Amino acid sequence: MTNVKVLLIGGGAREHAIAEALVRSNFEPKLYALMDVKNPGIKRLVEKSGGEIVQGKSKDPNLAAEVAGKFSVDFAFIGPEEPLFHGVCDAIEDVTGIPCVGARQKPAQIEQSKAFMRRLMWKHNVGGRLRFKAFLTVQDAIDYIDEYAESVAIKPARQAGGKGVKVIADVQAYLSDEKKAVKEKHAQAVFEEHMKPYDDIEDRILIEERVEGPEYTAQCFTDGNIVEVMPLVQDAKHAFEEDIGPETGGMGCISGKDGVLPFITAEEKEGSIKIVQQLINAVEKEVGEKYKGIVAGQMMLTDAWGPTIIECYSRFGDPEGTSVLPLLKTDLVEISEAIIGEKLHKINFEWEDRATVVKCIAPKGYPRRRNLAKDHPIAVDIKEIENLGGRVYFGSVSEENGQLLTKGSRAVEIWTDGENIVEASRKAESCIPYVKTLDGWGLFHRKDIGSPELLKKRIELGELQRECFKYRKAKGLVGRRIDWIPGKGKLEYVS
Ligand code: GLY
Repeated sequence: MTNVKVLLIGGGAREHAIAEALVRSNFEPKLYALMDVKNPGIKRLVEKSGGEIVQGKSKDPNLAAEVAGKFSVDFAFIGPEEPLFHGVCDAIEDVTGIPCVGARQKPAQIEQSKAFMRRLMWKHNVGGRLRFKAFLTVQDAIDYIDEYAESVAIKPARQAGGKGVKVIADVQAYLSDEKKAVKEKHAQAVFEEHMKPYDDIEDRILIEERVEGPEYTAQCFTDGNIVEVMPLVQDAKHAFEEDIGPETGGMGCISGKDGVLPFITAEEKEGSIKIVQQLINAVEKEVGEKYKGIVAGQMMLTDAWGPTIIECYSRFGDPEGTSVLPLLKTDLVEISEAIIGEKLHKINFEWEDRATVVKCIAPKGYPRRRNLAKDHPIAVDIKEIENLGGRVYFGSVSEENGQLLTKGSRAVEIWTDGENIVEASRKAESCIPYVKTLDGWGLFHRKDIGSPELLKKRIELGELQRECFKYRKAKGLVGRRIDWIPGKGKLEYVS
C-alpha cells in the first residue's frame, strides 16, 4: 500500500502517541486529524506528514464523515470513547464507505453502559462475573441499600469520564447505619451529578459487589475474531501520592518487561485475555455486529475469581495507551489494515522488551476545579527531556497564537523506559522540572508512580489475593455464592 492517508480522531496525549505510532509506519502515511483543540504534538506530526488538521467537535458523526470524505482517507483511527458512543464509526463507514479502527456504536456499549456490560457477562457466561443491580431511579437504589447491608461499589451506570465511583466496605455491624447513609448519599450524587449530562442510556445507578486487589489494564487489538494483547499496564487513578485524593483520568502508569507486571503473572495475564475474548464474542452475539478496534479489560486480581473484569474500555486507556505504543515495533498501519480486513491472525506482533513509566503533569485545580486549571501558559523543554531519555506527549494543551495553554486536565505526559520500572520512574522524575508554567501557577504530578515503595505495596496485595484465590480454587469454592433474601432465607448458587 502506498500513498496511505489516515484520519485520526481525538486530540489528547493518547492520540499523540497513536499519531506517532502511525507516522513511523513504513508506509509513511499522510496523517489528517480531527480534534477539538489544537494539540501541538499531533499538529507537528500532521504537518510533517503532509496532512491537514480540522479543528472541530471530534464526537460529531456528521463532521467526522465529512472530514474523512473530504480527504479521501484510507481509514480512520478513533482515539477517545465519546466519538464511538456517538456513532462516529457508523457515520464514517455508512456515509463514505471508509473503514474505521474503532468500535461501532452498538458494540461500543460494552464501555458506554456498565449495566449493559454486566448483563452481557451474565447472559453469555463470561468469566469473573460480579453480582450487580442497575437502577433507573434513585429511590429504587435507596430502597435496595436500605434492605441489604453489603460491601459495594456504587457507580454511574454509564462511562462518565472515570468519575463517580465509590467503593464502600460495610463489614462492621455497629457502623452499618452510617455506611448506609454514605451509600445513599453517593447514590444520590451519582443520579443528580455524575449521570446528569447523559441521556443516551436508560440505567442510572449501578451497585456492584465490592472486590479488592491490584488493578491492571489488558489492552488488546481486535478484528472481531481474535484479540491480541499488549503489554499489561497499571494506571494510578488517584490525584495524590499514596493513592489518595479524588479519582482522575489517571495520573500515570507503569508497564513491566515480558509484557507482565511485578504483581501479575503470565498465567493471570492469560486468564485476563480469555475474559476479553469472551466479551468480544458475546457482544457480537448480542448486537449482531463485529467489534473492530481496540478493547481493554480494566482488570483486578481478586480472591473470588482471580483475574476479574471491573470495567471495559472500547479504546486505548489514557495514559495506558501512551505507555505501550512507543514499544510497538510492528507497523500500526499494517495492524490497522488487518483489523479492518479481519486478518489480525496474520500479523507477527513485536514489542520492545522494556519497562515503562508515564507520569502525567497537571495544573493545580485538576480534577475538581478544572476552571482554575485552565488557560495557563506552559513551556516544555522537549529537547532537554529527550536528552534525558524521555518523550513528551501533549494532553490537555492547546497551541494558540504560538503559545501553549493548559485546558484544564492533564497537560503533559512524560514517557520513559528502563530495564525495570524503578529505573524508568527515576528517569521520568529527572524530566519533570522541564515542564513549567509561565505565569507562576502550580503544576503537580505523582512522584510515587513506579517507586520501590508503591511497587512493594502492589506486590503484597497481589500475593494476598493470589493465595486466597488458590485456596478457594482448591476447595471448589470459586463461583459459589450465598445470598440472603429477607423473608425467604438463604439462596446458595454457583455462578
Ligand atoms: N486511565 C483511565 C482511562 O483511560 O479511562
